[in-house]
Amino acid sequence: MATPASTVAGTRVVKIGDASLEVPSFVSASNVGTSAPRKKHFRQRAHCNPLNDGYYYAPVGPWEIDWREHYEEFFAKRDGDGDAGSLKIRFADVGCGFGGMLVRLAEVFPEKLMLGMEIRDKVSEYVRERCAALRKDHPGKYWNISCVRANAMKNLPQYFEKGQLEKLFFLFPDPHFKAANHRRRIVTTTLLAEYAYVLAEGGILYTITDVEELGKWMSDHMSAHPMFERVPEAELTKDPVVPLLYTGTEEGQKVERNSGSTFLNVFRRVANPNH
Ligand SMILES: C[S@@+](CC[C@H](N)C(=O)[O-])C[C@H]1O[C@@H](n2cnc3c(N)ncnc32)[C@H](O)[C@@H]1O
Repeated sequence: MATPASTVAGTRVVKIGDASLEVPSFVSASNVGTSAPRKKHFRQRAHCNPLNDGYYYAPVGPWEIDWREHYEEFFAKRDGDGDAGSLKIRFADVGCGFGGMLVRLAEVFPEKLMLGMEIRDKVSEYVRERCAALRKDHPGKYWNISCVRANAMKNLPQYFEKGQLEKLFFLFPDPHFKAANHRRRIVTTTLLAEYAYVLAEGGILYTITDVEELGKWMSDHMSAHPMFERVPEAELTKDPVVPLLYTGTEEGQKVERNSGSTFLNVFRRVANPNH
């Protein structure tokens, strides 16, 4: 287990055995949640290569992260009830962008802890600033959402234990159009095995895209995977999450504004057939 060695605004140093490692703090030194962040201050190139091995912090395992720092008031409340020890993140939004879906989900599921994972550091910083500002403006609310800078294609099992998640979101993922770049796509047979690992039995994997070919790609890969089965439409119409998939995110809103088509694929993590 890592122990905090010192705290400065924007970063924190953890001790792992004898080594010291600088890790990002919940909010950055630039704003510290004093006002709603503005996107123009957090702009970054739209695309990055998820197969690059650039250096950035990733935990050895979920125990290394001080989750209290992310969800302070939520934990403090449960401390009073004596059940903070069992708290775990249950929803993850992979490639959360500017965090629109997390904010909507926080309102619908105030008792669930949720984490956005975003590979672009400035964008992940924006989301943490957004959470901090929302908490300030709405006392007692939005303490259940946060965001980390992470490459989910490489580090997902380092953030979550086996079977921890109830919902996993891939909303308007990067399409990586060229055939040579298809291996950069976030839904592949290999990665689906990781998603099955972090999802609880019965957990739901939500995907939506405005790129028809990518929608088919995700549908084909998930349909062919032994750990997933399609959620029937009748069930989807009763799921309060589904309407949010279309308009909850910044990309979804863009598609709506342009009256574009969307391709939804929702799958359930089934029981392990070998057990
Ligand atoms: C097209 S945007 C969609 C953002 C958001 N889901 C929405 O619907 O508005 C895709 C996002 O995924 C992020 N991303 C791409 N690959 C990723 C990876 N391997 N791990 C985490 N985030 C990733 C990108 O930086 C980008 O913000």
